[in-house]
Amino acid sequence: MNLIVTGGAGFIGANFIYYELRTHPEDRIVCYDALTYAGNIATLDEACKAPNFTFVCGDIADRAAVYVLFEREKPDVVINFAAESHVDRSIENPEIFLQTNIIGTSILLDACRKYGIERYHQVSTDEVYGDLPLDRP
Ligand SMILES: NC(=O)c1ccc[n+]([C@@H]2O[C@H](COP(=O)([O-])OP(=O)(O)OC[C@H]3O[C@@H](n4cnc5c(N)ncnc54)[C@H](O)[C@@H]3O)[C@@H](O)[C@H]2O)c1
Repeated sequence: MNLIVTGGAGFIGANFIYYELRTHPEDRIVCYDALTYAGNIATLDEACKAPNFTFVCGDIADRAAVYVLFEREKPDVVINFAAESHVDRSIENPEIFLQTNIIGTSILLDACRKYGIERYHQVSTDEVYGDLPLDRP
């Protein structure tokens, strides 16, 4: 399978990439990340040594770049970890949150529809998905 993992230079995305490389060595992973203050390419140093891993620097809110990426990589699955994730910062500068979390996500969804991607996984938070009661299976 070909995977595009957006935001893979961040905290959860990088851990997911190492998990995926370990458990599904037959998969091809392309990490697409804008390397904002939250992204750290050094966390992917080991992953970059794997022949089935590629890093591409780019913004999920850049429609043209996202379409070029999808066209070239032909992903089976897209997993989006790219986000402005620190809530306190949204009080100081809400615009970048709207740009990445709303516009960027909608561009990824458009790309999935345009290129017929069957599985898109949106990683987010309880502010978006709602609470899950502890007793729910
Ligand atoms: N860390 C947690 O404890 C936690 C808990 C619940 C939910 N989440 C959610 O999981 C997701 C990932 O969280 P995280 O902690 O790994 O975030 P993070 O801030 O560590 O990483 C975000 C990554 O996204 C990249 N990025 C930001 N804007 C981008 C853009 N426009 N285009 C491409 N890449 C961009 C950054 O460079 C960074 O590598 C977020 O949606 C977050 O809300 C995180």
